[in-house]
Amino acid sequence: MTETADHRDSYPPSAEFAASANADAALYERASADREAFWAEQASRLHWHQPWDQVLDWSDAPVAKWFAGGRLNVAYNCVDRHVLDGHGDQVAIHWEGEPGDSRAITYRELLAEVSRAANYLTELGLAAGDRVAIYMPMVPEAVVAMLACARLGLTHSVVFAGFSPTALRQRVDDASARLIITTDGQWRRGKAAPLKEAVDEALFANGDVPHSVEHVLVVRRTEIEVPWTEGRDLWWHETVAQASPEHEAQPFDAEHPLFILYTSGTTGKPKGILHTSGGYLTQTSYTHHNVFDHKAGQDVYWCTADIGWVTGHSYIVYGPLSNRATQVVYEGTPNFPDEHRHWQIVEKYGVSIYYTAPTLVRTFMKWGREIPAAHDLSSIRLLGSVGEPINPEAWRWYRDVIGAGAVPIVDTWWQTETGSIMISPLPGVTATKPGAAMAPLPGISALVVDEEGKPVQRGETEANGYLVLDQPWPSMLRGIWGDMERYRATYWERYAEQGWYFAGDGAKLDADGDLWVLGRVDDVMNVSGHRISTAEVESALVGHSGVAEAAVVGASDETTGQGIVAFVILTAEAKDTGTALVDELKAEVAREISPIARPREIHVVPELPKTRSGKIMRRLLRDVAEGRELGDTSTLVDPNVFEAIRATKA
Ligand code: WT7
Repeated sequence: MTETADHRDSYPPSAEFAASANADAALYERASADREAFWAEQASRLHWHQPWDQVLDWSDAPVAKWFAGGRLNVAYNCVDRHVLDGHGDQVAIHWEGEPGDSRAITYRELLAEVSRAANYLTELGLAAGDRVAIYMPMVPEAVVAMLACARLGLTHSVVFAGFSPTALRQRVDDASARLIITTDGQWRRGKAAPLKEAVDEALFANGDVPHSVEHVLVVRRTEIEVPWTEGRDLWWHETVAQASPEHEAQPFDAEHPLFILYTSGTTGKPKGILHTSGGYLTQTSYTHHNVFDHKAGQDVYWCTADIGWVTGHSYIVYGPLSNRATQVVYEGTPNFPDEHRHWQIVEKYGVSIYYTAPTLVRTFMKWGREIPAAHDLSSIRLLGSVGEPINPEAWRWYRDVIGAGAVPIVDTWWQTETGSIMISPLPGVTATKPGAAMAPLPGISALVVDEEGKPVQRGETEANGYLVLDQPWPSMLRGIWGDMERYRATYWERYAEQGWYFAGDGAKLDADGDLWVLGRVDDVMNVSGHRISTAEVESALVGHSGVAEAAVVGASDETTGQGIVAFVILTAEAKDTGTALVDELKAEVAREISPIARPREIHVVPELPKTRSGKIMRRLLRDVAEGRELGDTSTLVDPNVFEAIRATKA
């Protein structure tokens, strides 16, 4: 360890961990010696019904074909082959329900359930290429539904069960889903909240505007009463559960669409990120094996994400199951019935690998170390972080309090678009630093460059560095559903000359050349690791009759990373309604989008700061929201608006 500020705080792996780690330093060498051979080697960890002819076909850039000509079945790889290999009795999922009920599901049982679902979806007339929307809480059937789709070549679109009927309808329409799979309700802090009702609302949302949905398949979870449309609506327990548990998986092309997952962009319309099969599974499987050092049959793995986000797709469903993991899936929140819940679960199942988001780590810090200290967490041997930059203080607390001051932390940078982890330490190799994602994984290439594409030098920490990916990778998105032009414009236009993917994140290289991801540089906010666009919230606000104009920014927040701060101009009629309206507006955003998008603050202002071209100066609003001195206001039409805005904040 040297004395430089960057180095002082460096945590090398223990000799013991390194000695038995899945990954060693040679992995980097092998990957850089021959990238394609390296990825072929990783793909060979899967079962292919038919091998590929070409590892990478980049001739149609920016749409990649990986393992072209190869054929595989994703669900077969995640389930069948483990049973055929003699591991049918191994628990795949230790499911823990919010009210305290639980279920252990072995790989053999998982195979039977997925097969039943596949048989029934086939009976419904669904065929490869059709889209299915999945709008479910964290119940085992959600995983079964995803795998059944994968098994049949149906493209799933999972919609987070916290999203509103409007958001669901938008996604169902965009993908023309033929089926929605949902539950009657979901447990929320001891209460059953309706969910099927939201589906009905979504399908009636636009009055009689026709939709693509033929059936709604409903899993009974809470026994809450549900509205029912005879002929259209079907109970899972009366259909899927009665179907045959035998089903033979057919292979699909490596580039067959596996799923669409909507994520926020810089406009109000979410982007349907499209992922395909062979390359996606190769990289999720490879990263889960090496980054988490996962050992099949020994580890108990727990990723606390929801299947509504990409982390749930890649690191609850496809990555872990392809590696024959035994994992915990938990339905509820971390503080129900109290703040001990996660640590009780760790103790109960002997969780050895725990993967969560910085916002939760900061919440645990707030609750106090006595809570985890009341539990035996000695089974934990690796911790992971994802979703936003983890501040060094939270990193150290995570390692000290949850990791007994000894276990490696992997800070994993990736996106919905990248499909899998891209930049992360390798736990048996990398000497980690609190707050740094460190380096691209073997087989992955990333650069930190300036506006012109010139590489930013190490130690140049004041520079505005942008993170770009300069080489295609197996689990990269293959486009935006129904809008390939937007795909090119969003990710490939900025550095078109160089042919690089623009990630939308700021980054720097420290004096040692280690990579730090600094957060979004576009109009996308990151609230508790959830991506929300400023435009989406603005559009929800102006949808209210009392609002004439709205501008939204993400302001730094001690717990959630960023908090949503809105500035609104009211209509003349609404001007006297006062604070009641602010609460009403917050509720409106929560209703229109999701409770996760509820603004932290709403300020009623007389005017918004605009440039002469009419663009709202969000940078200046961020300064106001964070209580900073104002930046350059010279391009504003009327610099005085700030006096008025500040007055409303005081
Ligand atoms: C954005 C992607 C990746 C799954 C969850 C979020 C931010 C993600 C890190 C990290 C710093 C991170 C980035 C990225 N982000 N991981 N380890 N360090 N920032 O997926 O919703 O697609 O969001 O999350 O800003 O662009 P997502």
